[in-house]
Order: sequence, then C-alpha cells, then structure tokens
Amino acid sequence: MNKKIIIGNWKMNPNSVLEAEKLFKSIKKLTVKGVDAVICAPSPFLSNLKKIGVTTNLALGAQNVHFEKEGAYTGEVSATMLNSFKINYSIVGHSERRAMGESNDDIAKKVLALTKNKIIPIICIGEKDRDHSGFYLHTIKAQIVSALSLIPKTIFKSVIIAYEPVWAIGANAERPATPAECHEMVIFIRKCISDISNTQTAHAVRVIYGGSANVEDAGLFLNDGMADGFLLGRASLNAKSFGEIIKIASINISK
Ligand code: 13P
Repeated sequence: MNKKIIIGNWKMNPNSVLEAEKLFKSIKKLTVKGVDAVICAPSPFLSNLKKIGVTTNLALGAQNVHFEKEGAYTGEVSATMLNSFKINYSIVGHSERRAMGESNDDIAKKVLALTKNKIIPIICIGEKDRDHSGFYLHTIKAQIVSALSLIPKTIFKSVIIAYEPVWAIGANAERPATPAECHEMVIFIRKCISDISNTQTAHAVRVIYGGSANVEDAGLFLNDGMADGFLLGRASLNAKSFGEIIKIASINISK
C-alpha cells in the first residue's frame, strides 16, 4: 500500500500573508506521522511559510511552474527558483490552468523541469465531462502519456497523479465523483501507466482524487475509491477540515 498524501491547493487564497501564516501554523499542528501533508500556496507566500518550518510530515508546494530555466517570461516562476528555497512539490496541469491555454506539451515540459530540479510533480488530469461512449477515457490516457513522455521511466514512481474531473471541482461543480467512479479511474490510470512502463511502477505511483472532497466522504474515497490521498481545494482553507482528513487518512493506514 502506498503512503497516503493529503495535498492542499490554496489556489488564489488567502488574501494576506498574515492569514496564510496563521492557516499554515494551524495546519502544522494537525499533521501526523505516517501521512504526508503538502500545502501548495501562492508563490508570494512560500518564503514566509518556509520560515515557519516544514517537517517530515508537512511540505510546501507551488501551484505552477514555467518549463524554461530563466529568461524573458514576465510573471513566471522557474523550477530552479523553487528548488533554490527547497520547495519539494509543484502542481502541474491543473484544469484551471489548462483552461487558460496550458497544453499537454507544456505540461510534459514542466514535469521534466521539475524532476530535473528534484521537485515532485503533482500532475492533474481529468475530463471536462463524461460521454456515454467513454471518449473521456481517451482524454485521460492522452494526458497521462503526454505528461510522462519526457522523463525516464525509472522516475515515474516518484510522481503523483491527481485525478480531478473538471465537472466535480469547485463551488459550481455538477456533483462530486462517487467513490466507485474514483475506483474505476484509479484502475484505468494505473493501467495507462503500466502500458508505458510496468505493473510494479504503475502500483507505486500515488494516484489521488480531487474535486469537492470533504471530511464526510474522505474515508469512502480512500477505502472504496482506492485513492492514495487527495488534492483538496476548499477543504484545505480550513485547518480543522484539512486536519480531519489527515486523521481519516491515518486511520486508513492500518487497513
Ligand atoms: P475543490 O476541492 O474546492 O472542489 O477543488 C479541487 C481542486 O481543484 C484542487 O486542486
């Protein structure tokens, strides 16, 4: 069984560095041994949060990265910069960034830049909607195959795949996915990885779920949905909810 990982994607929240520090400190107190927790905060806050201190149970991540090493890319942050203050994770290919024009090719280059800098990519994949013919499975497969296309197979096992169906994300979501839908996708994602590497690697990759996940359904996604953890949006902006989900994941370890 893979070690559980609970990742918070704060998106463009909270409004001030003071609030960010307060939230991070509260979350820090609620982390537990045996479950990895990661907070992906807005870039301007990372340095201050780093000073509060990461632990073996709590790491920091970025929400995006540019694939180039340096240069005339106004507003962008490179993997080298993130590495220079020891940020361990970065989200790539979030649907909110894909909606701004990020392509599968861009994401592949970002994954490469991150792994070259020893930063773990949290690769977001997910369909915009589902169709009865199952075409969305082709979308998912293409996203996975492309995201992993530039890195050596030997490091596939270190990446995290976050299955985030777009229709399940945010306050305007159609509905959350069901644990059964999550389970199906976890199997499908592992099969896609296995097809381009091997079964052992496919099982070692942590596949997590994101999209309106909360305290009420977290246990079901971990048990029945076979998720290795979560990428949480709204639930990561509340220390109590985030801590509760970490606790649920820690209980799940013994199963
Ligand atoms: P919500 O949990 O708020 O639906 O957001 C999910 C998400 O997009 C995490 O990256």
